[in-house]
Amino acid sequence: MVAWQDGPRDSPKPAREAHVGRFEIKARDGRARVGALSTAHGIVTTPTLLPVINPNLRTIEPREMWDRYGIEMLITNSYIIWKHEGLRSHALEHGVHDLLNYPGAIMTDSGTFQAYVYGDVEVGVEEIVAFQRDIGVDVATMLDVFTRPDMTRDEVHAAVIETAERAEASITTAGDTMLNGPVQGGLHPDLRRLSAQAMGEHGFSVHPIGGIVPVMEQQRYADLARIMLASMPELPPQRPVHMFGCGHPMLFPMLIALGADLFDSAAYALFARDGRMLTPTGTVHLRDLNDWPLLMPCIAHVTPEEVRKMDKDRQMEMLSRFNLEVTLAELATCRQAVHDGRIWELVERRSHAHPALREAFLWITTSPARGTAPIPAAEHLLMNDRAAASDTSPDRGGWESAWDWVIEAQNTPGRGALRWAGEDTFVRPTVVASRRRLHRSWRPATSEGTVLILHGAPGPWRDRAGAHVARARASNPSLEVLVLSPIGLVPWSLEDLQPFAHVEGPEWLWRRPLDHAWVRRELARLHLDGRPFCSVDLRSDSVAEAFDAALKEAGLEARAEAEDDRIAEAEIALRRTQAVEKSMLDLHLERSTATNFVGAATFVMSSTGRIRNVKDGEGRHILSPRLGDGGLSLTDEGARVLHALGLPPAHAPATLTVVEDAVPFVGAGRNVMHGFILEASPSLRPGTPCLVLGPDGALIAHGVAQCTQQEATSMEKGIAVRVRGGLVPSS
Ligand code: GUN
Repeated sequence: MVAWQDGPRDSPKPAREAHVGRFEIKARDGRARVGALSTAHGIVTTPTLLPVINPNLRTIEPREMWDRYGIEMLITNSYIIWKHEGLRSHALEHGVHDLLNYPGAIMTDSGTFQAYVYGDVEVGVEEIVAFQRDIGVDVATMLDVFTRPDMTRDEVHAAVIETAERAEASITTAGDTMLNGPVQGGLHPDLRRLSAQAMGEHGFSVHPIGGIVPVMEQQRYADLARIMLASMPELPPQRPVHMFGCGHPMLFPMLIALGADLFDSAAYALFARDGRMLTPTGTVHLRDLNDWPLLMPCIAHVTPEEVRKMDKDRQMEMLSRFNLEVTLAELATCRQAVHDGRIWELVERRSHAHPALREAFLWITTSPARGTAPIPAAEHLLMNDRAAASDTSPDRGGWESAWDWVIEAQNTPGRGALRWAGEDTFVRPTVVASRRRLHRSWRPATSEGTVLILHGAPGPWRDRAGAHVARARASNPSLEVLVLSPIGLVPWSLEDLQPFAHVEGPEWLWRRPLDHAWVRRELARLHLDGRPFCSVDLRSDSVAEAFDAALKEAGLEARAEAEDDRIAEAEIALRRTQAVEKSMLDLHLERSTATNFVGAATFVMSSTGRIRNVKDGEGRHILSPRLGDGGLSLTDEGARVLHALGLPPAHAPATLTVVEDAVPFVGAGRNVMHGFILEASPSLRPGTPCLVLGPDGALIAHGVAQCTQQEATSMEKGIAVRVRGGLVPSS
């Protein structure tokens, strides 16, 4: 966050020359990223808005944008500068930064939008790029062909091809100047995909999503979401994505959650011209206001009535400032939400700002296959498949892989509690990703045997029922115990795993009656199809009696009351199971491998009775369950033991191989940096433990991945793995 200030602000420090054009992910929440774009005029923190400056018509001076608001980048139109002799000769002689009196980074557009509005422009493809280069812009834009929603498919296709054909000449002309390669394609997902693929193959620095202004003007936000989901997975992840002409703050959270990094808009000034004020929850009109919708600094000392009485110019300036301040504040809120792992919560909240935005949100999270059809009423119930729809539904109309693209990048386990906010909670990417991971990796210990489901009350379940579970298992070793969390069934060994373990919400979330048909489907997802099950309501007056009654009903033995030895053995077995099953989830081990890895483990326990350290049969400290989120931390020893097992990649921890030059650094415990990576395994995801190998396959470190496989092999800057232990002895 750049603080607002009254006096002049120092000019930015240029990024290191070799780094100019590189984009680094500093923090992420799934596909949403807080990033840093290196330019010759400073390092720009994203997501951010580039205010549009009309060089002929300045409402707020660029200098003030820099000094007062700390705006790190703005956008102006090179075509307007090129067309006006005075502006053109000034820019060519003294540069665009001097023309605008702005020390930060400057992006320019190319005249495409003018061609869209006025029909044509008289500048050449290479000419306009050369001009942008010559006036010293930080990011130039090629002359793309705008695709309107009302064009025929053939026209859109031709525009996509024409834009792609102009790419190489534009890049050659731009030379060292960073260049925007816009994605076109109108409302056609396949043409958006084609355009993103084609543009992604060229050496652009930034990819704007173009042709969306009319889509936004017509408030077709579900179409906007479809455009994003079609384009984004095809673009190289190391390049920031810019939303051309998007400046309404209510759209920021959704677009940021889908991977947008940069926004530009003249909306702050255009809306102000006719008395409209932007807020993150919609647009309001000055004429309707008794009070301000948000108390921003620029209007805190005046009333709406006083502003209505101001002369038009002063009023417009006031409202432009208000719009800009609101926009900057909402972007700060989005960035913080990314840091907090709560961007989708914000998307949910903002989706209520407008019916069309709500439609877009529901389309993204629940029903790409259903298009605009209403959600069946049954899906509004908690105990149905809504929580699971997105991980098992067979057909999402071709959008499945785009939704996968969102889900697979979601860092798990998330930080902090899952905050319930109604039914939207159950389709949050963090919930879907966690359930997927569970269903993909977890397998029951036995192929038959009864399942006991604990339900009715929130955790910590070990406190409520741990002793009873141990006793029940002492009498029935093959009993599979599960807990019903508001987001689905979870094995007892994972009862402390986020987000299952900690859902912040009303008590009744846990008190729903067990719907047997739903339980059956949920059991099938856990590979427990057809197993008999019984249940214990943890709200029972006597949980002990409820256990015995459930076991009896299932034809099993009651809990072992007196046999302390058997109970102690069962407790140890449960701890081993915990280490085994967490290893299955976090390290992708098959049960047999995980059992072998953990072996006859012993445990160091915390004062609250939780496992702190796991030592294998040979006394080596191999694992530490994380008490905060229920995940697993591998130790140096654990990494060595696992690597020595020589496991097949499909059933082994994620790995990442670095270049020879990086081995001494990473081997000594330094983080793995992008740009030094040879390859990575497909299972690499943000938040998962991974083994780091040298080019010869030797284990050199282990740590926690910060990226996906594709990012690992594409990004050029930033941390790929936070190394927990370097394993190359110093010589
Ligand atoms: N400004 C708003 N939309 C567009 C677009 O599609 N292309 C370009 N170059 N500029 C734009």
